[in-house]
Amino acid sequence: LNIYLNGLNGEKPRYPVTCGDLEALAAEKLDPVLYDYVAGGAGDEATQRGNVTAFERWGIVPRMFSGAAERDLSVELFGRRYPTPLMMAPIGVVGIMHESRHGDLEVAKAAAATGVPMVASTLTQDPMEDVAVALGDTPGFYQLYTPNDRELAESFVRRAEAAGYAGIVVTLDTWSLGWRPRDLRHASMPQLQGLCLANYFSDPVFRSRLEKTPEKDPAAATFAWALTFGNPALSWDDLAWLRGLTGLPLLLKGICHPDDVRRARDGGVDGIYCSNHGGRQAASAPALDFLPAVVAAAEGMPVIFDSGVRTGVDVVKALALGATAVAVGRPYGWGITLGGAAGAEHVLRCLLAEADLTMGLNGYRSIADLSPDVLVRVP
Ligand code: FNR
Repeated sequence: LNIYLNGLNGEKPRYPVTCGDLEALAAEKLDPVLYDYVAGGAGDEATQRGNVTAFERWGIVPRMFSGAAERDLSVELFGRRYPTPLMMAPIGVVGIMHESRHGDLEVAKAAAATGVPMVASTLTQDPMEDVAVALGDTPGFYQLYTPNDRELAESFVRRAEAAGYAGIVVTLDTWSLGWRPRDLRHASMPQLQGLCLANYFSDPVFRSRLEKTPEKDPAAATFAWALTFGNPALSWDDLAWLRGLTGLPLLLKGICHPDDVRRARDGGVDGIYCSNHGGRQAASAPALDFLPAVVAAAEGMPVIFDSGVRTGVDVVKALALGATAVAVGRPYGWGITLGGAAGAEHVLRCLLAEADLTMGLNGYRSIADLSPDVLVRVP
């Protein structure tokens, strides 16, 4: 009601309130090559479109006389209480989506302001230690792209522990980049060069592998990064090693099959991050379609979900299908482009406000009230 009343006073929201409008404005501001890199996906992009439309195939069943005037959207994750069920998914290039080229620090500030955890990518533009400082009291998670150099991987994890991250998210679906026609069309990506490597370049193990420091020879350092980045040989046999690296909660990102959930659980993993990388990697079914079976196989282990979440209603639906927390990717990235930390904060607050209102108007007071029974399949 306040929004409507303030609107009458001539106050308009500073940024758009829908993801489509945010993206359109960000597209005007970003270099087209960078915009395409972020907006695009694999193949004909049917997977990323399907991620979004999959939510329309579920409807929420409203309940009346529920006394849902006050809602509690807090969630518990690995022994901590979080004020909202939202998370910010790792975006490797978010650093350069902001004009300062320190977009990761802007994301961290938005996390600090909202209590919404940031999952910091291995490819942050700033060292993970600086990101951790900007996070303030809000916990962050560190996302590991496992390099093919084990000592380097260990160094990343040690640094994340020392910097105070609350968990390690190992992304499994990106040992090579997907087939992305928008990027291939541009053929050369000068705008992406010198990209997001400060976290790598500041690593002592990475530096020890170089003949000259990254400051003296950035091209050679970038080449060395490219050579270590992905490890196609990783298999379930490596899970024991990954598990042994840290006592922090360990999550695997990119898991969509229930058998993979069971193997992860048997291997001592603490949480599953169900995602198809926003449709940027392998062509697949919409990520949401995998969620119920993943949740069932997880048998109570926390499940984070992302891919295609664009509205607060989507957040409620993912929670009802069993997600413990729901992450967004591109939407907060557009916010970073438009307004840095304030822009991302705006996106998060819109998602949260809509999720909260959706729960209230439908008669659900807390996330515990949400279950698959509150949804109906829409043909
Ligand atoms: C990503 N994503 C990603 N994931 C990851 O584990 N590490 C990373 O560095 C990145 N980098 C990255 C860059 C860009 C430009 C995008 C759009 C995405 C995937 C991301 O964490 C998440 O899975 C998806 O973005 C979720 O889908 P939506 O919300 O963008 O539809």
